[in-house]
Amino acid sequence: MSNLVQELTQLQQDALAALAQTTSTAATEAWYADYLGRKGKMTAILRGVGQLDAAERPLVGKTANEVKVVLEAALQERQAAMNQAEMESALAAEGIDVTLPGRQPQLGKLHPTNQGMREIVAILGQMGFQVFDSPEVETDDYNFGLLNFPPDHPAREMQDTFFTKEKDIILRTHTSPGQIHAMRRYAPEPIRVILPGKCYRNEDVTARSEMMFYQVEGLAIGHNITFSDLKGTLLNFANQMYGAGRRIRFRKSYFPFTEPSVEVDVDCILCAGSGCRICKYSGWLEILGAGMVHPVVLANGGYDPAVFSGFAFGMGIERQAMLKRGVDDIRLFYSNDARFLARV
Ligand code: PHE
Repeated sequence: MSNLVQELTQLQQDALAALAQTTSTAATEAWYADYLGRKGKMTAILRGVGQLDAAERPLVGKTANEVKVVLEAALQERQAAMNQAEMESALAAEGIDVTLPGRQPQLGKLHPTNQGMREIVAILGQMGFQVFDSPEVETDDYNFGLLNFPPDHPAREMQDTFFTKEKDIILRTHTSPGQIHAMRRYAPEPIRVILPGKCYRNEDVTARSEMMFYQVEGLAIGHNITFSDLKGTLLNFANQMYGAGRRIRFRKSYFPFTEPSVEVDVDCILCAGSGCRICKYSGWLEILGAGMVHPVVLANGGYDPAVFSGFAFGMGIERQAMLKRGVDDIRLFYSNDARFLARV
């Protein structure tokens, strides 16, 4: 056997041993130049082929090719292993620890005013009242005149009004003008509607009064609607809103648009009537105003008062939410204090 074949076999062994020592891709490239490159050891050996007998040459050529194939395959394997190792160490260095417990996100929830509004609408909805939308910006007529407030009557001063620059255009002081809108929309059909929405009063802001607040108005008109229907409806409402077995009481009152008019109390949800700080030792909490729709108002809405009768009631939503959730300052509803909003 030619010396050259032996040299090639030896070269393969040496090269494989050297390759096993390399620790970087750069080192494997240097290794390649050293053994298989144009100026490398394989080339140096093959320079001797010229001096061989023609008969010996093919075996040397074949061996050289085999060695080359073996070494190139070994190189590829080595580089793949190196890439893998490099990737693994990069991952280990830059990786994130997915076992770290996450941060609890703060969950939002419905504003207490919306909670109250939805409860009220759901309870009255079950009794057949449908929501009717009416505007926050009103004419003086809808807010007062058509509701039987005489011009310059002191009753208007019960509700301090925000005026606009336009004559007779005001911000509604209560949801009652929606009664006229609903009646004019549906007369002479019997109706049962609720009117939820925002109202405005030009008042000093205190723990008990805001200049902006929500009300829900209720209105039922039909051929045979009586004062006991009003009482039954409100008793049912109070029982669902404030708990089964709650009692209510009517106190005589005055509103220009209802006759007779009442203010309605529920027995104190905290002390059940025995007297406490919340009910100021009276045993009762005022929850709303109500009455039988005044004949003048029925007529203004398009219903003949000789044929139709109706009842109406109106309540402040924040007030209901305050009683139900033990909130003692109405200003909290508009303060955006996250601690308050998380609590109620
Ligand atoms: N609108 C009255 C208020 O804001 C409440 C009310 C509504 C009273 C309907 C009677 C009937 O005080």
